[in-house]
Amino acid sequence: MSNDAVLKLDSKELTLPTIVGTEGERAVDVRNLRTQTGYITYDDGFGNTGSCQSGITYIDGDKGILHYRGYPIEQLAEHSSFIETAYLITHGELPTMEQRRAFSRLLTENAPIHSNMEHMFEVFPAGAHPMAILSAMLNSLGCYYPHLATNDHKSDLENYDETAAIIIAKVRTIAAYSYRASLGKPYIYPRRDLPYCENFLHMMFSDPYEPYIPLPEVSQALNLFLLLHADHEQNCSTSTVRMVASSGANLFASTAAGVCALWGPLHGGANQAVIEMLESIHAEGDDGTKFIQAAKSGNADKRLMGFGHRVYKNYDPRAKIIKQSFYSALSSLRIKDDPLLNIAMKLEEAALQDDYFLSRKLYPNVDFYSGLIMRAIGIPKDMFTVMFAIGRMPGWIANWKEVASNPKGRIYRPRQIYVGPGPRNYVAPNKR
Ligand code: CMC
Repeated sequence: MSNDAVLKLDSKELTLPTIVGTEGERAVDVRNLRTQTGYITYDDGFGNTGSCQSGITYIDGDKGILHYRGYPIEQLAEHSSFIETAYLITHGELPTMEQRRAFSRLLTENAPIHSNMEHMFEVFPAGAHPMAILSAMLNSLGCYYPHLATNDHKSDLENYDETAAIIIAKVRTIAAYSYRASLGKPYIYPRRDLPYCENFLHMMFSDPYEPYIPLPEVSQALNLFLLLHADHEQNCSTSTVRMVASSGANLFASTAAGVCALWGPLHGGANQAVIEMLESIHAEGDDGTKFIQAAKSGNADKRLMGFGHRVYKNYDPRAKIIKQSFYSALSSLRIKDDPLLNIAMKLEEAALQDDYFLSRKLYPNVDFYSGLIMRAIGIPKDMFTVMFAIGRMPGWIANWKEVASNPKGRIYRPRQIYVGPGPRNYVAPNKR
């Protein structure tokens, strides 16, 4: 039996084919709708719109399932590392031992940034947000590698492995340098002997006269944090990367745009917003009880940050994993009786029993805990979203590649329904 959809419009009948994904996800293919009927589909916020077919990440938001390239997130969190997972996402398969070594070598070689670029950090004003710096620096990186940023997808794809490694390696150096610059501290160069996360912590927290040696639980928590953020299907920033890529733009420019989209508090900025919410609850002398009541008002300023998700209508599977790692990092760091932590636990407990949150399927998302983890590790608040960007880089890179290598790819160009004034004549300035 055909599964085509039949649409009746203006007394005309149109047959629309359907598409079924690997995991049984179904879509009605409306690509010919406008040419055949003059109608477009209207879907403000894109909640029902599939913008592409992708082979990278699978999410079942109702069941709380997340897979990267077919591998369940729980298995990757238990057995893999951020770098191995980054290879999986950007290359499609888990690396062999030799591929893993070659990838690590490429990352190590590409960790330092050009010395001219160091001066660029100094021209930002004090207090500049590191997300603005990160986006500017990523885009500028393309200027240092013009042969990798040609805006000719065929040529940029030939150098994909090198460009991907440059971005994954340098985003962490840029992030650490922007932090050091904001404090007026000297830059700490990456070390060849340190793995990815330890090297990042070294560049952030070592001093020329005193190396920073992280506790293993701290590097593990960071590794897990990055792995859990490595991709997440067609969210706001990934769709932005794909949108920019669809115009033919290079990988540096497309990922820089992803950073800007991630910055907002409803997306990557939520981890920072969670801590700010906890600080403000604490400053007001509330233990969370009053805030929970206010969060139920529907007032956007009083949302319970770190709760709810456009896709997950069940516990975010990343939140479950990160919560466990959070408690292990806390006990290694001997953090007990932190007032913000106590408020967070109170909010979580209350929301998970409250009909307002339950009936709207609002559960903790990954950001509810990730901000607390970053804080425990000593990462400053305005760097939280930068950490998310470091983690999300493999996903953005892989999505750019899907767009760039699609032989049938077209520029992304949604339509709209115009609701402004009808046609009218120009009025001279003295007659208005
Ligand atoms: N606190 C209180 N009420 C909420 C919240 C919340 N955090 N989130 C949603 N609601 C209510 C909302 O007011 C609405 O109520 P009603 O039906 O009475 O009008 C209902 O729940 C549905 O909300 P929505 O805004 O239509 O949901 P959405 O799918 O458009 O938004 C969201 C998803 C994540 C933007 C939203 O839940 C939110 O603002 N959460 C807080 C910010 C946050 O934690 N963001 C991080 C997302 S996870 C990281 C990532 O993957 O980017």
